Amino acid sequence: MSSAGDIVSSAAANNRTATNGHAIAVPTLKTSYKIASIPGDGIGPEVVSATIEVLKVLTKQLDVFELEITDFDWGTERYLKTGRYTPEDYLEVLKGFDAILFGSVGSPSVPDHISLWGLRLAICQPLQQYANVRPTRILPGTKSPLANCQPGDLDWVIVRENSEGEYAGQGGRSHVGCDHEVATELSIFTRTGVRRIAQFAFSVAQNRPRKMLTYVTKSNAQRNGMVMWDEVIKEVAEDFPDVAVDHMLVDAMTVRMVLNPRSLDTILATNLHADILSDLAAALAGSIGIAPTANLDPTRKNPSMFEPIHGSAFDITGLGLANPVATFWTASEMLHWLGESEAAMSLMYAVEKVCAAGIVTKDLGGKAGTKEVTDAVIKEILDLKPQ
Ligand code: NAI
Ligand code: MG
Repeated sequence: MSSAGDIVSSAAANNRTATNGHAIAVPTLKTSYKIASIPGDGIGPEVVSATIEVLKVLTKQLDVFELEITDFDWGTERYLKTGRYTPEDYLEVLKGFDAILFGSVGSPSVPDHISLWGLRLAICQPLQQYANVRPTRILPGTKSPLANCQPGDLDWVIVRENSEGEYAGQGGRSHVGCDHEVATELSIFTRTGVRRIAQFAFSVAQNRPRKMLTYVTKSNAQRNGMVMWDEVIKEVAEDFPDVAVDHMLVDAMTVRMVLNPRSLDTILATNLHADILSDLAAALAGSIGIAPTANLDPTRKNPSMFEPIHGSAFDITGLGLANPVATFWTASEMLHWLGESEAAMSLMYAVEKVCAAGIVTKDLGGKAGTKEVTDAVIKEILDLKPQ
């Protein structure tokens, strides 16, 4: 897979010297990133198509890089027709891309554990996207349901362990359907897995102005895996002496998030705990309809996947009501990861201007639909000056 760095250096290498000593002017290649788009189910296709529309305008306006977007029909419709959410060689296919833009998976016609394991987890786990990053803040012009919580009072990044823990898939059922049925769901924690996510979270905290990390476990009741988490985090902390660390038990953490949001900055938690805490975080920041996620392989050996936190939202599918902001913000995170930070910031600037102007969907208390918000963001982008 070509990375941004490779493309830039191959463009530089194109400026060669001719045998007669004169430089040959070869036009510099514009960096191009290959993006796999997997809109999936429910409102996924609505928010992903709005985002692609926005990205096309943004890249044209800035004129510094290109996105080559390939659309994949992997979702429940395909599963119902073929028995699989993806083709068999899907991992090889995805490895040919620089990043993946994902909508949602889940449909009333298929049990959720089949759809989630058939598509989303089938991508995250083998591609070693072990760091799930969830920035949360209150956007201008929108309100937290918490009284007296102003935009600057809630500005968090949740780092979720994304490869093991409670979602490792270990367990089984015996005597299915009988009164004496037994079902087990094993949480698997490895020292390597905890160490690498802790190192990642500490560097996120270190790169934020407040340099604070709160890690969340449940090491009073769960005396094995969670105690190992605590121990490994304390070891990793020694390599980051400039980061202030504190520890919360997950139940008490919900109280602190609601009562004292300002006291938090970067938050590290297990796969399950962070899954739950980040929905709470999104609601406290105004709506699940704004919250983005990056599933990162920090080693960059595999493409990373970017998606809104929300699911298929059956209750509003096809009504034009879905808030596209979560996926716009997700796309901004994707551009950051690709190294296009100027473009990432321009996109968020446009989104925030639209929110500040009160052009927001119903979940944020507004009257606009997906299309009005998308059109307004595009209009803001067209007002940006080329870089
Ligand atoms: P959900 O996130 O789809 O919906 C929860 C509530 O939030 C609904 O009332 C919905 O209308 C609202 N909502 C969600 N996104 C919104 C948006 N962009 N704009 C406005 N309102 C929005 O969660 P739910 O109902 O638990 O799950 C529905 C399906 O989605 C299930 O099949 C579930 O397994 C799947 N799911 C998939 C995820 C993924 O692919 N990453 C994540 C979460 C759920
Ligand atoms: Mg979730």
